Amino acid sequence: MFKNLWRQRVQLVEADLIRELHATNSLDEKLVQAMEYSLMAGGKRLRPILLMAAADACGTAGEKFITVADALEMIHTYSLIHDDLPAMDNDDYRRGKLTNHKVFGEAMAIIAGDALLTLAFEVVLRQKDVPPEILLNVLREISTAAGAAGMVGGQAIDLRSEGVQIDFATLKRMHAGKTGALFRAAIRSGALLAQADEKILDALTRYAEAFGLAFQITDDILDVTGDAAVLGKATGSDIKNAKSTYVSLTSLEAARNFAREAVEAAVDALKIFGTEADFLRELVTFLTAREK
Ligand code: IPE
Ligand code: IPE
Ligand code: MG
Ligand code: MG
Ligand code: MG
Repeated sequence: MFKNLWRQRVQLVEADLIRELHATNSLDEKLVQAMEYSLMAGGKRLRPILLMAAADACGTAGEKFITVADALEMIHTYSLIHDDLPAMDNDDYRRGKLTNHKVFGEAMAIIAGDALLTLAFEVVLRQKDVPPEILLNVLREISTAAGAAGMVGGQAIDLRSEGVQIDFATLKRMHAGKTGALFRAAIRSGALLAQADEKILDALTRYAEAFGLAFQITDDILDVTGDAAVLGKATGSDIKNAKSTYVSLTSLEAARNFAREAVEAAVDALKIFGTEADFLRELVTFLTAREK
């Protein structure tokens, strides 16, 4: 059931992403190729899946909100293109393929990222059958999460933490920003679109925050213990760049314990739900045991 729904939704997202991309006018064909290269390179499609799963948990079929879900994947993909640039993490592989700048050059990779980020907001506005005031709330949620108060802010802490000793509170803030913010926005957007009440929104927000933490700690662990061929990206990237991570600041064992605690907190946050949140419960456990 879990795996089937996952697979089904990955297919749905991929078909829809390419449709939305091609429904967009571009002055330049090469730019669209660069956008498509990274957008359609695979990936777990987690943020769209989380948005839909949150709506499901609130009693509304998540597929209805596929368009907003696509937008999150566009923002995520842009963040990966930029994250891999020589001036940032300087990585050569992503999603099992050469990174965008390795194929299209740095300048094109930068603007392909810019174009995906911008397109995301155009795509949110293409979402059908949602009252405008709800869509406005979702736009506020997503734009705040993507920017200086969220993902980009977290990336800034990440860059400034290379090669220096940071405290634990800063590490947590960095993870909550660079990774947590978009997951949080995905889940809260699903709940907002499904018109959940405050209590449900609060519970899902707590789940999202714990989920994001568990996910990034696992990403830090996999950078040390993972298999590059399975991961689709190089391992040892954090060590190469002297990054501050859960592993470098504590230890592998401690990082695994933090991840476990975060999974427990995520599952605990769902206790007000019945079986309608089973997918979310299984997802967080599955993703901390992942190999990619
Ligand atoms: C990788 O995200 C970057 C982080 C935020 C840790 P994912 O692990 O979700 O990457 P894809 O989308 O599956 O490639
Ligand atoms: C990336 O974190 C977070 C964002 C792209 C916003 P990482 O730099 O740890 O992600 P990977 O390991 O390259 O996927
Ligand atoms: Mg990075
Ligand atoms: Mg990176
Ligand atoms: Mg990483």
